[in-house]
Amino acid sequence: MMAADQIPTALVDRLRSARRVAVLTGAGVSAESGIPTFRDALDGLWSRFDPRELATPDAFIRHPARVQAWYRHRDRLVDACAPNPAHETLTDFYARFETFSLITQNVDGLHRRAGSEAAVRLHGSLNDWRCFACARPAPPPDVRSETDVPGRCPICRGLLRPGVVWFGEPLPPDELDRAMEAAATADVFLSVGTSGEVYPAAGLPEMARQQHAFVAEINPQATPLSAGMDAVIRLPAGRALPAIARALDS
Ligand code: OAD
Repeated sequence: MMAADQIPTALVDRLRSARRVAVLTGAGVSAESGIPTFRDALDGLWSRFDPRELATPDAFIRHPARVQAWYRHRDRLVDACAPNPAHETLTDFYARFETFSLITQNVDGLHRRAGSEAAVRLHGSLNDWRCFACARPAPPPDVRSETDVPGRCPICRGLLRPGVVWFGEPLPPDELDRAMEAAATADVFLSVGTSGEVYPAAGLPEMARQQHAFVAEINPQATPLSAGMDAVIRLPAGRALPAIARALDS
């Protein structure tokens, strides 16, 4: 059975009685804001750029200005975008459920700009630059091209890096703990706009399901996680999440 706009009735019923709700978001939640995802075939960042050249500590050590310029380019792109109805609906979920946990893999800060300051940021943030050597926070470097002089720490002269988690790096342990706690105790867990390719984030829906949560996916495309879901909604997040909110209000 489907409620209006293809929202499964079982999901609406479970959300109505849920005390603890958790949502994992990925790049798809910001797609309708105009921010490219990573793995979509046509405009995904990793179909146009090689992550090994831009998103690893080795790449940064080899080409610091190139990596700094790429992340500053993404900063500017994100600054020019605004949160969409998916981000806004998730912010409203804090008031709607007794306990709501928003866990994001996104580094774009759009959940925060939509008012979800408490979101768990598993992969860090594009904004929080710091020194690669001494780890002190620092303002973003003004580097626009790989031929520029790389930006350095004003205190120790170490190279500046963006506050994102790169391939091969551990996730921030406190954020991961909060995410796992939310997944393990959720009554309903939603996976929204993620390809489910990158662990440990991709393991959270299964962790929730094993603890008897009702698990649902919102994604226009099937993912490796789809088979383990209790419900799937094949709609863009900016349409599905407001439709869920309307179904809960009706
Ligand atoms: P991906 O690019 O891997 O996946 C984006 C998903 O969003 C795909 O499954 C799309 O089908 C889906 N999608 C596209 N438009 C959508 C929309 N309007 N509504 C809902 N879903 C939509 O992005 P992530 O899963 O976030 O890591 O990627 C995970 C991690 O891989 C990222 O955090 C990043 C990347 O390497 C780091 O930067 C550490």
